[in-house]
Amino acid sequence: MAEHPAYPVGLRLAGRRVVVIGGGQVAQRRLPALIATGADIVLVSPSATPSVEAMADAGELRWERRPFADGDLSEAWYVLIASSDTEANTRASAEAERNRTWCVRSDNAEAATAWTPATGRSEGVTVAVLTGRDPRRSAGVRDAIVEGLRDGSLVAPRHRTRTPGVALVGGGPGDPELITVRGRRLLAEADVVIADRLGPRDLLDELPPHVEVIDAAKIPYGRYMAQEAINNALIEHAKAGKAVVRLKGGDPFVFGRGMEEAQALAEAGIACTVVPGISSSISVPGAAGIPVTHRGVAHEFTVVSGHVAPDDPRSLVDWPALARLRGTLVLLMAVDKIGAIALTLIAHGKSPSTPVALIQEGTTAAQRRVDATLETAAEAARTGDVRPPAVIVIGDVVSVGASSGGDSGSGDGHDDPADGPDRG
Ligand SMILES: C[S@@+](CC[C@H](N)C(=O)[O-])C[C@H]1O[C@@H](n2cnc3c(N)ncnc32)[C@H](O)[C@@H]1O
Repeated sequence: MAEHPAYPVGLRLAGRRVVVIGGGQVAQRRLPALIATGADIVLVSPSATPSVEAMADAGELRWERRPFADGDLSEAWYVLIASSDTEANTRASAEAERNRTWCVRSDNAEAATAWTPATGRSEGVTVAVLTGRDPRRSAGVRDAIVEGLRDGSLVAPRHRTRTPGVALVGGGPGDPELITVRGRRLLAEADVVIADRLGPRDLLDELPPHVEVIDAAKIPYGRYMAQEAINNALIEHAKAGKAVVRLKGGDPFVFGRGMEEAQALAEAGIACTVVPGISSSISVPGAAGIPVTHRGVAHEFTVVSGHVAPDDPRSLVDWPALARLRGTLVLLMAVDKIGAIALTLIAHGKSPSTPVALIQEGTTAAQRRVDATLETAAEAARTGDVRPPAVIVIGDVVSVGASSGGDSGSGDGHDDPADGPDRG
């Protein structure tokens, strides 16, 4: 039988009875996808993992706490056999065969009448891969396709789903791998990209030649303010029917003027999608090995713009209040004003010996970190030649981690194919 390829099909299980035999790890992995179909799931098993039990407690399935009994499959449209009781599995399998009910077996793929493909979903597309005898290969092919759909590298040109209007995309702090999956996909689908100086500029090189990339800093603004000129450019391109991405550093709404752009677009009647991004205020310290909070050290962190000095009448920051806080202060756009800021904090009670770290171009290949205290921060910035963009962290968390800096990479988190995602 195994020499013939399996016939792929999409089962519409909503409201239909699915019986799962066994409540262990295999069931735990399979159940979320079955629950998502809206199936009427009955689990038959004397025991279950805490996660499966939680699904029963949440009303996502009905759990019969007992071994399999003949007749359990009478109402079933589909059966998943995943128990460690081989004798019960064999009886259940035989009943499914008699009832002509498709049945997956985790313990014996040859005895099964159906196999579970390696599946993944992205933006309304379900990918299901069956290789017959090679679950690792199935999972690998599935991962490659899903990743391609998510990052936009697998977009069939004639079927591109273009998001009309403008997407305000937070690009993260600079490392091209720290943009969100949605941001990456929208970038790949864009006709026009208006980008800031900060953010994942490397990604712009990967865009196809037909994509118009505009440097926001170079948009001529004549009688307008620079921001108005950017708003106008967004509106003009969107009105011309283009899919426009406004690529911003970090998160669009953290000192990013994102809401001004969203409001201008709303006034012009243009659809706007906001895609949050990883803000440099958290990620840059993290990439340099500094946690903005740490148990027993800091129970709060405050993100402050230092683009105007504390004594500047335009400043909206209550520096005396910040000086009294025990937690972490994270300063953005503060390299030029760090001297005045440090003096103000000290004058209002912050200890001159409070640790300080200045991290320039965090998460990029040029990342570097200069350590100091509040008293020496301005001098350290000067002698260390610290230049924008830099994040300045003030507080005891600076001394918590290793000064060499951490790795901001992430694990892949996919299923382990070793226990048979191909066949159930
Ligand atoms: C106009 S603000 C934009 C912040 C951005 N929206 C965010 O959420 O990260 C620019 C400031 O962010 C900080 N910044 C952004 N990217 C950075 C990076 N890769 N390394 C260090 N600082 C960065 C710097 O303080 C810079 O002056």
